[in-house]
Amino acid sequence: MTTHIAVPLLDLKLQYDSLREEIEPLLREVCDSQYFVLGPKVLELEGSIADYVGTSYAVGCASGSDALLLALMGLDVKAGDEVICPSYTFFATGGAIRRIGAIPVWADIDPTTFNVTQDSVKAAAAQCTNLKAVMPVHLYGQTIDMDGVLDACRELGAPMIEDAAQAIGAKDETGAMAGSRGRIGCFSFYPTKNLGGFGDGGMITTNDQVLAERITKLRVHGGERRYYHNEVGINSRLDALQAAVLNVKMSYLEQWHEGRARNAKLYQTILSEFDNELLVTPKAPSAPARHVWNQYVLRVLNGKRDSLKDYLAEQGIGTDIYYPVPLHMQECFSDLSYKGMELQHTERAALETLALPIFPELTEEQIGYVATTIIDFLKNQ
Ligand SMILES: Cc1ncc(COP(=O)(O)O)c(C=O)c1O
Repeated sequence: MTTHIAVPLLDLKLQYDSLREEIEPLLREVCDSQYFVLGPKVLELEGSIADYVGTSYAVGCASGSDALLLALMGLDVKAGDEVICPSYTFFATGGAIRRIGAIPVWADIDPTTFNVTQDSVKAAAAQCTNLKAVMPVHLYGQTIDMDGVLDACRELGAPMIEDAAQAIGAKDETGAMAGSRGRIGCFSFYPTKNLGGFGDGGMITTNDQVLAERITKLRVHGGERRYYHNEVGINSRLDALQAAVLNVKMSYLEQWHEGRARNAKLYQTILSEFDNELLVTPKAPSAPARHVWNQYVLRVLNGKRDSLKDYLAEQGIGTDIYYPVPLHMQECFSDLSYKGMELQHTERAALETLALPIFPELTEEQIGYVATTIIDFLKNQ
């Protein structure tokens, strides 16, 4: 019988405790300046994100959801146009497409990586008559097969918008960073992300100067000069307070990725000692690719996922399901036709996935407790 230890899915207070002394004077500086929207702190963050991702430009905005919306607007995607994206993702991916009246066309996922593939994008494209863009998601912090899906985009004549909200720092099979090879990369600084702010925030990356300038304009109501508007944009500016926090956190990002990778490896070592056909653990891709483990997601077979989740909760372990309802099954998308589309891996993943605590501050003891509690459960099935 193992001793009961509380292991939350995420504890942001631990990270804050370690950075409090660095962050608080900078927050005070912003308050003293009363300069709250955009400004020098945001410019500094835009510069360091562009350097980190390896693009010529980075444009801050109010959230990852707005980054997707601005990317679509910047590429002139309009009502009635089709955009391919996964159905197995956070709502914002499909939501941004639908918000501008365009039509999400769902691509199925690979059952091992949970990401769309070259073939699934092509299968989705075969349903399209008016395809304008492809918006894959680097789910959980692992990139899609960039070479393959970029080839498909080239063949289809459609630009790629990378939804890299969960994947800052992830590297693809060529070692390139998420958000650097598509036409546009979109990032989220929601607090649970590997680089999380003290509220909402987002960023767009691109190598296209014209696009960067257009999106910079679209985020301030489409005005190049104040009060002069030649197109309609939105209000989506990044706050100086968020940028101040994120500028500090940038210098710890690599160390946090390493902590997450260490935890993933520990889970893998313990769980793989117990050979059980009910459990599938996620695999780290081989270098130069890099998973940044925004989520560590198991697959639990034979309908046992929910009872494992309940059992872990009883033992003080937090978990979550990303995502229980695929987008093509959401009520608000029920008017969209996806007839003939096979989304079998998507529908299965929604029934089988379970995310475990993976944040960098977890101790070996906590990881060991989570893994052995899972093994205890499986032994009794
Ligand atoms: C895959 C994905 N896309 C988009 C978003 C939207 O980001 P935000 O919450 O910053 O609007 C998220 C964030 O949760 C996400 O996980």
